[in-house]
Amino acid sequence: MSEMASQIAKAIFVGNIKGGVGKSTLTVYLTDYLRRRFKRRSVVLLDTDPQGTSFELMEPKSKNGDARFLPVGDRYDGVNMTTLDGVLRRLLAQNDGIAMVDTGAGKLGNFWQMAFLCNTLLVPTSMSWADLRPTIDFIKEIDERKADLRSVTPHVVVVPNRVSPQQRHFQQIVDALQEVNAILAPPISELSAARHSSPDFSGLEGVEGTRFCREIERLGEFIVEYVISGELDRIYDETAN
Ligand SMILES: Nc1ncnc2c1ncn2[C@@H]1O[C@H](COP(=O)(O)OP(=O)(O)O)[C@@H](O)[C@H]1O
Ligand SMILES: [Mg+2]
Repeated sequence: MSEMASQIAKAIFVGNIKGGVGKSTLTVYLTDYLRRRFKRRSVVLLDTDPQGTSFELMEPKSKNGDARFLPVGDRYDGVNMTTLDGVLRRLLAQNDGIAMVDTGAGKLGNFWQMAFLCNTLLVPTSMSWADLRPTIDFIKEIDERKADLRSVTPHVVVVPNRVSPQQRHFQQIVDALQEVNAILAPPISELSAARHSSPDFSGLEGVEGTRFCREIERLGEFIVEYVISGELDRIYDETAN
């Protein structure tokens, strides 16, 4: 990996048609992980979910402007979409910025416009078919839009979340993903340490030494290796040419 490639700005969109799959949880812990990992790069959290879960958790832990609440989905979404668009474009022009974009359930407002501004779409899902089926349909829709736009981005990375801590086999999800263009990230288990509460939330520091912390670090390293380093861009660039 060249130094140049590792310094290219990246926006990571965390989304799924399903709610309650861990979008906000993964967003806050991965933001914290990337801030630790890249002390000199700015890692911005943009919360577009009107519920504001991840903003509320990370705002007290963030420097000025590094956590922003830009709810998209109701009557205000025009204004915030324009702001979000501007924030992302400025960040991506900066060269070494990283943005984590949390979203609400569904495809509210200008969901696709937001997603297609980003390099990678991180899709958390449980291993249950009630979540997996709509997740696969959701990724199929992304694939169709990418084909229409002749775009190789956003790259889709599926993160199994709330997986039974005893789970050893992941063939079911590997098979399901055969139908779509996505890569599978290391899983995050269903663990009590993952449950966070707002007033005393302290990110990775608060879960130090737990299995959850180690799994987040493993997922974070995977994101660094494939997304932040530009490896997925190189792989898909080659297949496109
Ligand atoms: N790996 C996990 N283990 C245990 N609980 C989890 C895990 N991931 C998420 N949760 C819990 O599940 C609920 C939904 O998670 P959340 O991140 O808010 O999902 P979303 O943002 O997709 O709606 C929250 O109560 C959260 O604490
Ligand atoms: Mg959420």
